[in-house]
Amino acid sequence: MATTQPTALAEQHKDFMPLDGIDHVELWVGNAAQAAYFFRHAFGFTEIAYSGLETGVRERTSHVLAQGEVRIVLTGALCSGSEVAAHHARHGDGVKVIALRVPDVDHAYREATVRGATGLAAPHELADEHGRVRVADIAAYGETIHRFVDRSAYEGAFLPGYAAVPAAPEADAEAELITGIDHIVGNVELGAMGDWVSYYERIFGMTEMIHFTDEAISTEYSALMSKVVTSGDGRVKFPINEPAEGRRRSQIDEYLEFYEGAGAQHIALSTADIVRTVGQLRARGIRFLQTPDSYYEEVPDRVGEIDEPIEDLKRLGILVDRDDEGYLLQTFSAPLGDRPTIFLEIIERHGARGFGEGNFKALFEAIEREQDKRGNL
Ligand code: FE2
Repeated sequence: MATTQPTALAEQHKDFMPLDGIDHVELWVGNAAQAAYFFRHAFGFTEIAYSGLETGVRERTSHVLAQGEVRIVLTGALCSGSEVAAHHARHGDGVKVIALRVPDVDHAYREATVRGATGLAAPHELADEHGRVRVADIAAYGETIHRFVDRSAYEGAFLPGYAAVPAAPEADAEAELITGIDHIVGNVELGAMGDWVSYYERIFGMTEMIHFTDEAISTEYSALMSKVVTSGDGRVKFPINEPAEGRRRSQIDEYLEFYEGAGAQHIALSTADIVRTVGQLRARGIRFLQTPDSYYEEVPDRVGEIDEPIEDLKRLGILVDRDDEGYLLQTFSAPLGDRPTIFLEIIERHGARGFGEGNFKALFEAIEREQDKRGNL
């Protein structure tokens, strides 16, 4: 009977903050109309909801884009006095809200704040003719916030206050490129990683899943420290990076300088067919990090048998890594906006639960080539 105890304790431990997944991610951007076009026409998202002047909102406008289980909200300012304008002036385009679906917002907010989270908006109800949604906000790293959302009593397109956008004629013309959000990575200041890992452990009952030392992922110029926290059922995974000493400025330092603080570094989007997805994205002009051809010479020895032809991976710059449970394929876009800050990852997992540790060195070398071109290495 004693062997059942750890499981029972683990159940009890995570029970205080059950998470049903990432409800949506909201980016505050300089031009939401054009960012929406980019996500629709390059990444295959469909606009499902909108708010702005036409819905009675005077100081900001938001486009809600959906694909698979992903919902991305792109919000821009309608006047200089808007909170969104001030945020954009400081940070450029970036993630403002990582919203988490929970069964009970009041419970989640109470547990989080009792455990030390900074409350930003107490639980409150949003309502319209389609039903009610309960939400509450707490502070995360930098100016990023976590929003608890319970939409179980809502049938509208997104949230009360948003108007549904009728499906565009091209909407279901092709299969999904993207199926879900695999993880969202935060970059925090030097020395702050441990604090943020314990924040997620304490506030959300997450556990540290894996960590990389700077030794494992250092290059000649840069290094980072990375730890991953995950919810009990693995539905929500947040890697946290901090800079580590390198010979020159690391990519995390560059991010922190240009984002002017801590923030979300990348959103990893899952796909069921990365060769097709990245092929289409490249054909539509999306830029990805260049991977040196030499990287692919070592792949057969490093990862063994995989389903995809290495030639396809090489042609598309897709990285491959293996752990005890399988392998994964991944690649990283160029920054989404003007600043060298937020970018996207495309990932396809074949059993592997890691984050591409074996790829990090190859990835960093590729990132540094780009950083060098910008004069920031
Ligand atoms: Fe990632």
